[in-house]
Amino acid sequence: MSLLEVASLSVSYQTRRGRIRAVDDVSFALERGRCLGIVGESGSGKTQTCLAIAGLLSPDAVVLGSVRFRGRELVGASRRTFNELRGKDIAMVFQDPMTALTPHLTVGSQLCEVLKVHEGMRAPEARRRALEIMERVRIADPERRFDMYPFELSGGMRQRVMIALALILRPALVLADEPTTALDVTVQAEVISTFRAVIEHTGTSLLLVTHDLGVVAGLCDSVMVMYAGRTVEQASASEIFEAPAHPYTRALLDCLPRADRPRGSRMVSIAGQPPDLAALPTGCAFAPRCTRADDFCMQRVPPLEVGGLQHAVACRHPGSLA
Ligand SMILES: Nc1ncnc2c1ncn2[C@@H]1O[C@H](COP(=O)(O)OP(=O)(O)OP(=O)(O)O)[C@@H](O)[C@H]1O
Ligand SMILES: [Mg+2]
Repeated sequence: MSLLEVASLSVSYQTRRGRIRAVDDVSFALERGRCLGIVGESGSGKTQTCLAIAGLLSPDAVVLGSVRFRGRELVGASRRTFNELRGKDIAMVFQDPMTALTPHLTVGSQLCEVLKVHEGMRAPEARRRALEIMERVRIADPERRFDMYPFELSGGMRQRVMIALALILRPALVLADEPTTALDVTVQAEVISTFRAVIEHTGTSLLLVTHDLGVVAGLCDSVMVMYAGRTVEQASASEIFEAPAHPYTRALLDCLPRADRPRGSRMVSIAGQPPDLAALPTGCAFAPRCTRADDFCMQRVPPLEVGGLQHAVACRHPGSLA
């Protein structure tokens, strides 16, 4: 049994323009100590997938399918169940630490508070554990930073505090939604290597949402690529980078800045319009932007089919695309 098993998960909403599926028939599994990256452009359903797992969707969301955490079904679980799990077993890291950190409390008191509330720890012990986790996420000079307020820290340091807060109760699963997007590239790389070190040390599983395949390369074991709420490709990280099969995955890879390209040619983006969930085409949602699309692609949604070794792709013309 995997730590997290998501099967045929769908999240839909009734909108003024009709019913939309923010997440459409998504399935994946995450093992203990592993990192799965969910990648896709804005609006592809990455955050909605995370929120469904954490039980944090808005009340008007209709959720179908199954989310099993340690074998326990979470779709339809009570608020109390989620509150218990979110405190201790499942933690979240968001893009903007300022919204998640309490501005008028010092870093140390926020970390200690969590330990007091959840583990009934007394002050000296909580302080010790807080300093230990601060050190583990490589916050330099933790004793001094313990007494600082969030606004006194740099963006990268604040994000490390967020990671420390997420990890302090030693959760089995961390859901990280664009945890490094707000940071500049160098700091991003540092925070990612911190994350990886902590995961390797503690055996925590990480579900990492990002629109940046570069982040995936540094951190993830496997990758799920989403487009318009659906999974279009799923494989190990090395497969995704070495043998991407879906034209959309290839287009995302082409958008990555590369050392061998001249500067200034970095801002590549995928041609065409991102999909409108309220007016999706009949066939493959990516077809209108796809150079490979034919009439058949326009007529039917391609099913997600397993090709190679645990490599699944939803495309009629997968494989090497010159
Ligand atoms: N309460 C809601 N009612 C209707 N539609 C919603 C609601 N919440 C989210 N959506 C829609 O769900 C879709 C998927 O959103 P989601 O936030 O998961 O995208 P994302 O992949 O995380 O994008 P980003 O990279 O911008 O964060 C979007 O089209 C969004 O408008
Ligand atoms: Mg999002």
